[in-house]
Amino acid sequence: MSPGPEWLRVPEDVNALVPVLWPAHVTRAGHGALTVGGLRVDDLAAEFGTPLYVLDEADMRARCGAFRAAFGGAGSATADQSGGAGSATADQSGGPEPGGVYYAGKAFLCRAVVKIIAEEGLSLDVCSGGELAVALSAGMPPARIGLHGNNKSVEELARAVDAGVGRIVVDSLDEIERLSAIARARPGTRPAVLLRLTVGVEAHTHEFIATAHEDQKFGLSVAGGAAARAVDKIIGEDVLDLRGFHSHIGSQIFDTGGFELAARRVVGLLAAVRDTHGVTLPELDLGGGFGIAYTTQDRPATPAELAAGIRAAVAAECAAARLAVPRLSVEPGRAIIGPAMFTLYRVGTVKEVAGLRTYVSVDGGMSDNIRSALYGAAYSATVAGRRSPAAPMLARVVGKHCESGDILVKDEFLPADTRPGDLLAVPGTGAYGRSMASNYNHVPRPAVIAVADRRARVIVRRETEDDLLALDVG
Ligand code: LLP
Repeated sequence: MSPGPEWLRVPEDVNALVPVLWPAHVTRAGHGALTVGGLRVDDLAAEFGTPLYVLDEADMRARCGAFRAAFGGAGSATADQSGGAGSATADQSGGPEPGGVYYAGKAFLCRAVVKIIAEEGLSLDVCSGGELAVALSAGMPPARIGLHGNNKSVEELARAVDAGVGRIVVDSLDEIERLSAIARARPGTRPAVLLRLTVGVEAHTHEFIATAHEDQKFGLSVAGGAAARAVDKIIGEDVLDLRGFHSHIGSQIFDTGGFELAARRVVGLLAAVRDTHGVTLPELDLGGGFGIAYTTQDRPATPAELAAGIRAAVAAECAAARLAVPRLSVEPGRAIIGPAMFTLYRVGTVKEVAGLRTYVSVDGGMSDNIRSALYGAAYSATVAGRRSPAAPMLARVVGKHCESGDILVKDEFLPADTRPGDLLAVPGTGAYGRSMASNYNHVPRPAVIAVADRRARVIVRRETEDDLLALDVG
């Protein structure tokens, strides 16, 4: 057996589950198979097929609850189930306030998830017309939706305004003009907006998911003066209601100091706006990006720890600037859905490359989880359908695509008797798995099931070859 990378220790028990990596209601029962919410994964595979994304619904709800407890719920917006046109201006008329926790739908969105988010008292961040359509079709109160995007189309902006979306996070000078024109054409409508800032924080994460350094496409620079110019422009447009600032420093971040530094810089701009314009903006959104455990090396902070650190930084900075503390909101995606889901695969082939490692091929791959290939993301895996008495072997879990970069789990110890027909489970796949899935090699995308109270239901059905052919009009 070859040694693994330094951080990967040979496990004493190759059947053991490390709790931080798995949803709360996954266990390995006496018969050896994993169970989720009391249901055996081999039964789930037989009924729903593989690959299969499996959501532990109670685990997801608990994560929503922890964020709501730490950062606050959707406030009085919950009372306004009707939402509807005009609620974007509702603050003016004493109506609903946007919520403290916006689930970032880009991590994974479908109607069942929207309903869970709404029931758990969270708000929802969408970043495209498609995500907005899913949210509205599932009955999310529009006042509890925030719209993001660095290049929203006129159609997307108009649809959001007409639906009464609670707030729009503007990201460019062009967009300010676009949105003003839309509002002007709808007398009596005054969309609530936040301005997305670039705060110059170098987040310690993969380059492609860091978003607050100066040289990237999101936001307007605080240090470079673009943000101040955008504030002048928005305040000059009486059809726009500037509510505050937004900052998102990146994703899969463990160092909470980054959020605190961002908070300080954003509060600095709030103070500057007060001094220049005599306006105290009431809201501050610090985005998402809270890291989760993909391997046993990762140590994520709890929502309560995150909230304490961020609130303390905001409070200290506001006190120094003699500003009232703004209403704080955050936008976790990964931290809510990521650990609540795992993917179940069926092993097809096992190939030993002499002296190196064993390649275990499963029936999915980079089309259902692109994160390893795109970001070099680390995952773990376990044989899920049985308990194995065999010794550990160093394995690489790969997919079925025609590409050698089609790696799901780069390094993992699996039992040496792992064989075709085994079920393999990969935890932590809820965020940016199904939502970034593709049809590469014309592989249909897997189903998503939700398990709760010993019942499993399909929330996104499996694609079929007919679905693929239906788009191909010859
Ligand atoms: N808010 C804004 C404005 C964002 O851009 C994002 C993520 C979030 C919130 C949620 O971030 P989270 O809490 O989920 O980390 N595809 C990449 C992640 C891209 C994140 C894009 N924006 C990945 O698979 O790691």
